[in-house]
Amino acid sequence: MRECVLDKDIEKVLLTGEQIDAAVKRVAAQIDEDYKGRTTKLLLLCILKGSVVFMGDLMKALSIPTEIDFMKVSSYGSGTETSGRVNIILDLHRKDLADCDILIVEDIIDSGRTLSYLTEYLAINGAHSVRTCTMLDKPDRRTVKFVPDYVGAVVPDEFVVGYGLDYDEKYRSLPYVGVLKRSVYEKE
Ligand code: IMP
Ligand code: MG
Repeated sequence: MRECVLDKDIEKVLLTGEQIDAAVKRVAAQIDEDYKGRTTKLLLLCILKGSVVFMGDLMKALSIPTEIDFMKVSSYGSGTETSGRVNIILDLHRKDLADCDILIVEDIIDSGRTLSYLTEYLAINGAHSVRTCTMLDKPDRRTVKFVPDYVGAVVPDEFVVGYGLDYDEKYRSLPYVGVLKRSVYEKE
C-alpha cells in the first residue's frame, strides 16, 4: 500500500483497500440482481462529499445501466459529533423522478437522521422508489430507527476516516478506512 503523511494520524486500519474492493463487488452483485429487468431508470444518488469515492467504485462495479446524480447535505458540523439537523445544500432538480428508482449512495450511517430524512423527502417528491446503499454502517449510534438496504461493512462506534470520509475536510483521499487518533480532535 502507498504511504501517505496522514497515515500517522490513524489509530488502526478497519478496512484495507482489498477488503473495500471485495465489499463493493458483493454489494454491486446484490444490486444487479435486485434491479435487473426493470423498465424504470436506476438513479444512483451520491450524497456529497463523503460518498464520492464509494460512488465511483460502485458505479463501475454495476453491470446494469444507471444514471447518476448528486445532492449535498450537511448534518455534521466541523467536529466529530452530529448537529442533529439535516440541511439540503444542493438539491436534486429533475422532472423525471416518477420514472426513477433512486438508490441513495452514502458513505456512512451514524444517527440515521440524514438517510431517514432524505428517503422521505425523495418519496414525497415523487420518486418511483427509494432505497439506500451505504459503504459503512455504525448501527450502535442510531438515534432514529433506520435500516439501510445495502451495506458494505459494519463498523464499531468510533470516528473513522478515509475512502471519502473526512475529519475537518482532511483524510478523504486515504485508500483505506481507519479509526482517527483521538489526539487529533481532542487536543483543543
Ligand atoms: P447521520 O445523519 O448521523 O447518520 O450522519 C451521517 C453523516 O455523518 C455521514 O454522511 C458522514 O458525513 C458523517 N459521519 C458520521 N460518522 C462519521 C465518521 O465516523 N467519520 C466521518 N464522517 C462521519
Ligand atoms: Mg462528512
